[in-house]
Parts: sequence; structure tokens; C-alpha cells
Amino acid sequence: MKALITSGGRGTRLRPLTHTQNKHLIPIANKPILHYAIEYCVEAGITDIGIVFSSDSDAVPQAIGNGKSLGARITYIPQEAPLGLAHVVKISQDFIKTDPFVFYLGDNMVVGGLKRFIEAFHKHKSNCHLTLARVKDPERFGVPTIKGNRIVEIQEKPEKPKSPFAVSGIYIYDKTIFEAVNAIAPSPRGELEISDAHQYLIDKGYKITYSEITGWWKDTGKPYDLLEANRLILDNMTETIDGSIDDRSIVSGKIRLGKSSKIINSTIRGPVIIGDNTRIENSYVGPFTSIYDDCIVKNSEVEYSILLKECKIIDVDIRIEHSLLGNDVEIIKAQGKPATHRFLIGDQSRIELI
Ligand code: DAU
Repeated sequence: MKALITSGGRGTRLRPLTHTQNKHLIPIANKPILHYAIEYCVEAGITDIGIVFSSDSDAVPQAIGNGKSLGARITYIPQEAPLGLAHVVKISQDFIKTDPFVFYLGDNMVVGGLKRFIEAFHKHKSNCHLTLARVKDPERFGVPTIKGNRIVEIQEKPEKPKSPFAVSGIYIYDKTIFEAVNAIAPSPRGELEISDAHQYLIDKGYKITYSEITGWWKDTGKPYDLLEANRLILDNMTETIDGSIDDRSIVSGKIRLGKSSKIINSTIRGPVIIGDNTRIENSYVGPFTSIYDDCIVKNSEVEYSILLKECKIIDVDIRIEHSLLGNDVEIIKAQGKPATHRFLIGDQSRIELI
């Protein structure tokens, strides 16, 4: 069995973070989102992995490399434009050949791994095995109509969903999917839709089965989805402490502290992950916070947030919560008079003041 992972698309819903980086490389719990997809595949015994990337940037191949350190052998497949998920499958036929494969949307995260879905695919001798998750907002997703225990229809982002389920971004196919992606036409938005390929398989009488994801699953499509995915990953992490914690600091709950990082006279309430060479001084860091490498948090409070590389939060009187800070962001106390708030903000940023 092989795996095909996506890392293209536009990432428009994750702006401004995606103005300067591919969304699949944004760290969740200090690890790029794409690493999780690769790890889930390797854990399920799949090492021959194709990653489809947008041909206008080699950021993903550069960052992920040949996959050896993750136990995988990665083949990169360029996509000239985001022409749809069925297009992704179509251009990958030379890599997949006639093998069964897991198609994994690289911005999805699932706890509990892929093994049980692969077993169900083999057990039912399916042509296509889908994974469904019960969600509050099915209109954001592909939505199945289920009769008895059969999927009879799939609609892409319907205004009026016919079930409370989303088709998640983990699909298992045999070679009949290529017949489908080669037969369908682009949708009104100009994409070859994966839901149309699934509908083709249903209409032709191929065997489509499904599993319900009962643990958690997250499509990291919108900014605040990242915070929730971060929370869920931190909840399950194990503790390691490589940096130093001084005697005046109080640390409770699980923490991960990277090399050369220092916690000085601070309170850390885990789960919290702090990368390498970061300094937390006279501060409070609360649960479900990920702070990347080379950051400084001084005389400030931060909780349920993600800080990327080289961020500085210094002398800030209010607690920063529910926040996402991109690389090299500074939140600092204004100096001098007049005492005013001053902003230097890039495109499509968002600030909420009290
Ligand atoms: O997450 C599950 C949902 O994923 C499904 O319920 C929907 O049926 C399915 O269409 C898809 O919807 P999204 O709107 O979330 O898809 P998105 O455009 O965000 O793309 C998903 C992944 O595929 C992401 O890793 C970007 C990548 N991609 C997307 C397109 C359209 C590509 O690599 N190339 C593409 O052409």
C-alpha cells in the first residue's frame, strides 16, 4: 500500500500566516502539520509516500526532504495549480500505479492512527473507504447521505447538509478511483472535486464503505482550528525537559522544554511546549500554549496560544490568550509619550482589543 499526501492549495483561509509560509509547514505543538500526516502513514506501515506540492514553490520539498528521518521514502509530485483534489489524484497515477493507497489531506489531523481504516478497507474488499466525522458545521465539508449503512450520495459543501457528518480528509482507494477522476468534469468553481469522484463511484455501483472517526479529527482549515489542534496534541504529549528551570519558578502539568531554553522566576501551567533557545522570564505561561524556538516572553502572561519562531512578548500588562503569532512578531509595551497603542500590522492581520 502507498500513500498520497497533499500540500498544495492556496491556504487563503489561514491568512495572514500563509502570506509567508505554506500552511502545511505551520507548526502545531512545534512540529509542522505535514509531519503528523507522514508519521500517521509510517505508523500504519506505509513508507512509500507521494507528496503533491504546488509547483510555484519548493518550500515543502526543502523543509521535509526525502523523509528518511521519519522512516519514509518520499516522492514529490508537482501540481501546476490548485485544480482540485481529484486533480491531485489524477496527476499521481504514475506514482501510485495500480496499488491501493491512502489519500491523506495534509492539513488534517487524526488521533488513533490509520490502521483501523486500512483494515476495514481490506476486510470489506472496498473500492473506496471513507472516514466520516460528526461535526457541528457539515456545510464546510463533503457531506454524505446515508441510508441503512450505505452512502448513497455525497455533496460538496452543501447549503443544506443532509447528515451531521463530514467526509474527513482520509480516504483509502483501489485503482478504480483513477477511472472516476478521469471521467468527471470540473465543478462550477473550476476544480475537479473529490466528492464528484466519489459520487461517480457510487453511481457506477462500486463498493464504497466507511468508518466513523470516534476519537478526534481536525481539518486545520481556519486559524482557530490550529489552536484546537494544538490543544489536542498537547493533551497527549509526553514530557521532556532539556532546558533549565530556576528555583523561583513553579511548573505544574506536563511540559516540554527544548535545549538552551530558560524558565526564570515564572509560572508554567502545562501542557505547554517550549522550543529551543527560548527565554521565559517573570511571566506566566498557561495551558495549551506552544512557543517555538528563539522566543522571549518577559514580564507578561500568555495562555492557549501559538507563538512561532523569534516572537517577543515583553512588558505586556494584559494576558494574551487564544492568539496565533507568526514568525518574528513583537508585542511590547510602548515607550515614551504620548502613551498610545501603536500598530505595525501586515495584510489581513487581526487585533482584538478590550
Ligand atoms: O478536510 C476534509 C474536506 O477536505 C472534505 O470534507 C471535502 O470534501 C474536501 O473537498 C476537502 O475540502 P477543503 O475545502 O478542506 O479542501 P482544501 O481546498 O482545503 O484542500 C485540502 C488539502 O488539499 C489541503 O492540504 C490543500 C490541498 N490541495 C487542495 C487543492 C484544491 C492541493 O494540494 N491541491 C489542490 O488542488
